[in-house]
Amino acid sequence: MNDIKSILVLYLVYTLLIDVSPIFFESRPDLFARERYARSRNKTTERSFDSIEGLKSLDFVALVNRFGYPAEEHLVTTIDGYKLRIHRIPGSPSIPKAAKKPIALFQHGIFASSDLWILSGPTKDLAYLLADAGYDVWLSNARGNTYSRSHTTLSPNRDQQFWQFSFHEIAVFDMTAVIDYILQLTDQQSIVYIGHSMGTTISYVLLSTKPEYNKKLKLIISLSPVVYWHTPHSPMVKFVKKNFEAFKNFYISSGTYEVFPLTKANIKVLYSFCSNESILQQYCIKLIYYLFGYNPSQFITSKLPTLVSYFPSGSSIQTLTHFYQNLISDSFKMFDYGIIQNFAVYKQREPPHYNLSNIVAPVALFYGKGDTLISPHNSIDLSKDLRNIVTIEPVKDEMFTHFDFLISRDLKTVLNDRILEIISEVA
Ligand SMILES: *[C@@H]1O[C@H](CO)[C@@H](O)[C@H](O)[C@H]1NC(C)=O
Ligand SMILES: *[C@@H]1O[C@H](CO)[C@@H](O)[C@H](O)[C@H]1NC(C)=O
Ligand SMILES: *[C@@H]1O[C@H](CO)[C@@H](O)[C@H](O)[C@H]1NC(C)=O
Repeated sequence: MNDIKSILVLYLVYTLLIDVSPIFFESRPDLFARERYARSRNKTTERSFDSIEGLKSLDFVALVNRFGYPAEEHLVTTIDGYKLRIHRIPGSPSIPKAAKKPIALFQHGIFASSDLWILSGPTKDLAYLLADAGYDVWLSNARGNTYSRSHTTLSPNRDQQFWQFSFHEIAVFDMTAVIDYILQLTDQQSIVYIGHSMGTTISYVLLSTKPEYNKKLKLIISLSPVVYWHTPHSPMVKFVKKNFEAFKNFYISSGTYEVFPLTKANIKVLYSFCSNESILQQYCIKLIYYLFGYNPSQFITSKLPTLVSYFPSGSSIQTLTHFYQNLISDSFKMFDYGIIQNFAVYKQREPPHYNLSNIVAPVALFYGKGDTLISPHNSIDLSKDLRNIVTIEPVKDEMFTHFDFLISRDLKTVLNDRILEIISEVA
């Protein structure tokens, strides 16, 4: 256990050093995103990342096209100026794009992007399965990740202000803009919302602060919902609790507000740590077990090189801080700026609670019995505070982890088939 912690600390220190060093050309997230885009759209190049064998990193559109599905990229600008590049799978090989299809919208978790929903391909991933079932499928990208690292006036590279957001702003500004954009473009009234991890937090923040959005979400599928951090805590959560302040101060004192961006340098490091050829691969796997839960039977080791080419793909230190505050205060509250600024922002000393009673849209909750980041009791406690629960159930695998929701051997049979069933019953 201690060697895993040491590796985690080494990795954190390393990423900070590399991310703040301008001498490393390869540590620029914007250059990586631009280069990946150009390579993905160039039909004449072999669509591979570089000379590192087996490592491919394409953008969403190229990834989806590779499986014979249509894909689109749309630009949505929020009222506070963030430019989000969101994605769409408007049809499938058997069902072409058409007007008035029912809509599904996916929201990824922290450090993820739209890419994480489509890496396993049409035989497994819910996004393709829904496209096959006649859905118009949309996938959002939160501000600050590799696709949405852009603003009308602020520079993500130079302006600290760009990074002053957490899941609160993602919910209130990004999600409202994305939902309204989609509904307007497609001339529809409501959507099915699918969130994983922070993607679920976003839906709860949205509906508790802007209840008028309840009628725009006809069903919410919440995968490993992140609202409560009740005890008992896993070793990993305890570790975070003890060390987050130091980690945060370390970052902020070096002027870094962006955490774990997707860059060539970071991919190379994770690749050399996690790939087949690496003698360190066993530690990479242990680290993932430590962070998310232990479930070797669902873990596909050969997917690691692919995974590290897309994840982590960037967020803000404030987002992590907001989760940490909720963990420490054991509550689901708005961001705590400190007493003085809280008065300015909220007109009270403490940040207000998010009022879950405002959520009246139907919610289906799924949790993993082996999820150590968000342990099952947190999902069960949440279900008692939501007014319109369609179902709360564990994934049909005895040790399913937080990580398994993204990539796992039996993702379709233990989870996605059941989600399709619920969507067809309720939506
Ligand atoms: C596409 O890739 C080829 C081969 O690497 C290169 O010669 C060409 O300039 C590229 N085209 C564009 C439009 O980038
Ligand atoms: C990794 O190893 C597995 C099993 O030995 C093999 O099937 C797979 O092709 C390898 N993947 C890469 C990227 O080398
Ligand atoms: C929360 O919302 C419910 C219903 O929307 C309302 O009745 C209640 O007063 C609210 N609670 C607080 C603390 O604002």
